[in-house]
Amino acid sequence: MTNLERIDLLEQHRFLPREELRALLETHTPTDAEHLFARARAVRETVYGRAVYLRTLIEISSYCKKDCYYCGLRRSNQNAQRYRLSKDDILACCAEGYALGLRTFVLQGGEDPWCTDARLCDITANIRKRYPGCAITLSLGERSRESYTALFAAGADRYLLRHESANEAHYRHLHPPELRLQSRLQCLRDLREIGYQVGCGFMVGSPGQSVDCLLDELELLRSFQPDMVGIGPFLPHRDTPFAHEPPGSPELTLLLLGITRLLLPGALLPATTALGTARANGRAMGLLAGANVVMPNFSPPSAREKYSIYDGKNSAEGFDGLQALVEGAGCHIEITRGDARSGELTCTST
Ligand code: 5AD
Ligand code: SF4
Repeated sequence: MTNLERIDLLEQHRFLPREELRALLETHTPTDAEHLFARARAVRETVYGRAVYLRTLIEISSYCKKDCYYCGLRRSNQNAQRYRLSKDDILACCAEGYALGLRTFVLQGGEDPWCTDARLCDITANIRKRYPGCAITLSLGERSRESYTALFAAGADRYLLRHESANEAHYRHLHPPELRLQSRLQCLRDLREIGYQVGCGFMVGSPGQSVDCLLDELELLRSFQPDMVGIGPFLPHRDTPFAHEPPGSPELTLLLLGITRLLLPGALLPATTALGTARANGRAMGLLAGANVVMPNFSPPSAREKYSIYDGKNSAEGFDGLQALVEGAGCHIEITRGDARSGELTCTST
């Protein structure tokens, strides 16, 4: 089978046997990649038209109790600058995003014990009351099912929790022993059962990631059927154990974005900040590979420089220039909540 045939089969069936996917990952040429991206754009257009959705990204806390080996916010990083936004700060960021036409607010942060259910529910309920027509996405790591339930009741609609690696051994390579892939997957299942639109995701080229790991990622996406998938290249941070590891490949990231669009036609796929950091025009290339979401950073400038997950973050973060970027990729910005359309598509084969 040729790679062009593999890509067409994947589009038709939203599925490709593991060994065929392996062949595609291992032997694709730039021409194959272009074909994949063209099919990914066509599939995206069938589901979403030319719409791209923007999100107001607010990084609410740079404190984190966890110690993931890849992340600059890890608790062992003594050089990290820590901050927390107040409720008023957060509401001011929401107002800024709303004024510019953004209809989803994403509250993202490290696993900060200060972010109790009481505080987060209060903030969420306030946003919900002020912006009844908007979506509220939380991305605050692993919490109890009770906590997720309370936040949903307070008005949150969506939750982003990248699973980071679908492969047990690789997950352990990226995290200290107390962190478990199974706990993370349980969180994702809880979130879905509670009623959230759920996003998972992974880094491309993280240390120790083999082709088999990537195939495990694609299998997990197919079985879990997330509403959103965050895929970005791994980028080293100088104050982490992975400081000297090579960065992930933007080209491979784009390939996985395209494959993911064919696997999950209705998914919300962001052109990530990491992709925009790894490559000039990275986010535009992400849109051309099948992504349909951009998440400009609305954190206050002082916070933005402190929220340092990987080196070089900051380069392509803000709202300015996004209209040109989106239109350059043949799309337009749509002023709506931009919900996932995953549920409206039923799998027709296998
Ligand atoms: N490079 C790229 N992405 C990273 N993340 C954390 N550290 C890095 C890094 N060094 C991503 C993870 C995590 C989110 C906070 O950012 O996937 O879920
Ligand atoms: Fe904390 Fe998330 Fe960074 Fe891990 S990846 S150290 S949980 S902010």
